[in-house]
Amino acid sequence: MQIIHTVQALRVSLGHAEDTAFVPTMGNLHDGHIALVRQAARTGSPVVASIFVNPLQFGQGEDFERYPRTLTTDADKLAAAGCDILFAPDVAEMYPEPQAFQVLPPLADDLCGAFRPGHFAGVCTVVLKLFEMVRPRYAVFGKKDYQQLFLLKGMVRQFNLPIKILAGETQRAADGLALSSRNGYLSATERQEAPRLQHELRAIASAIAAGEHHFSVLEAAAAAHLAEAGWKIDYVSVRSQATLRPPAAGEGKLVVLGAAWLNRTRLIDNLEIDRGAF
Ligand code: PAJ
Repeated sequence: MQIIHTVQALRVSLGHAEDTAFVPTMGNLHDGHIALVRQAARTGSPVVASIFVNPLQFGQGEDFERYPRTLTTDADKLAAAGCDILFAPDVAEMYPEPQAFQVLPPLADDLCGAFRPGHFAGVCTVVLKLFEMVRPRYAVFGKKDYQQLFLLKGMVRQFNLPIKILAGETQRAADGLALSSRNGYLSATERQEAPRLQHELRAIASAIAAGEHHFSVLEAAAAAHLAEAGWKIDYVSVRSQATLRPPAAGEGKLVVLGAAWLNRTRLIDNLEIDRGAF
């Protein structure tokens, strides 16, 4: 596997190849990331992964400085998973000047965006830059970050980018906790508590599958259970898979999304619900 730190060297290495499968990450790789790399490899195209902790998507007071940076072990994991090129630029390489032009996505102030102003503009902007640097045929993103995946699909569609977005299923620990680089922040007791978010989303999904359609009652009950267990809730919300907005009456393809804090650590998760049209 080649490790490349500059855009110029990346372009030289790729030549005119526009048939790669690309997995953008912020590093500190776990089995969720690696599953995306394996999915990329299954396209048959050469695999490019990037590791870049993107300052533009972190707000004031968020964890940009303490975000774990583990390039050496990450590179070993990528090579073992079949990655061909690792692109790991530094901040000056990605942002040689302040990034005045930015992508302003829809839903930027909804769900996670409501609690992380500027986050999704930062994500879409860096991904658009990375897409232009790598020019992949495929790009793989995880369903774990459901709103991010939704917005990036929209960006590719509406800017006519010749890229096929592939969605990777959320990889979980045995107790149901979605794998995340931020799980490393959890103390032993917090780690034991953390699967509750997933359990509450699962309870909502089961109730909806059983015919319950008072979503706000389910959302409030889940939030109350989490609060009782010491969580601070950003949101628990049932949405339409198609629009990520509150579902229309009778809509069958739903997703329940949640974000909540265990002390200093913010966790997110979601679950798709397919109850068929009714
Ligand atoms: P990061 O959090 O490192 O995630 C990189 C990719 O891995 C994303 O597509 C994310 O959805 C996916 N991922 C994370 N945890 C996962 C899990 N448990 N199962 C499956 N996939 C998982 O998301 C970002 O970085 C950044 O916002 C980025 C897109 C790289 C832009 O900076």
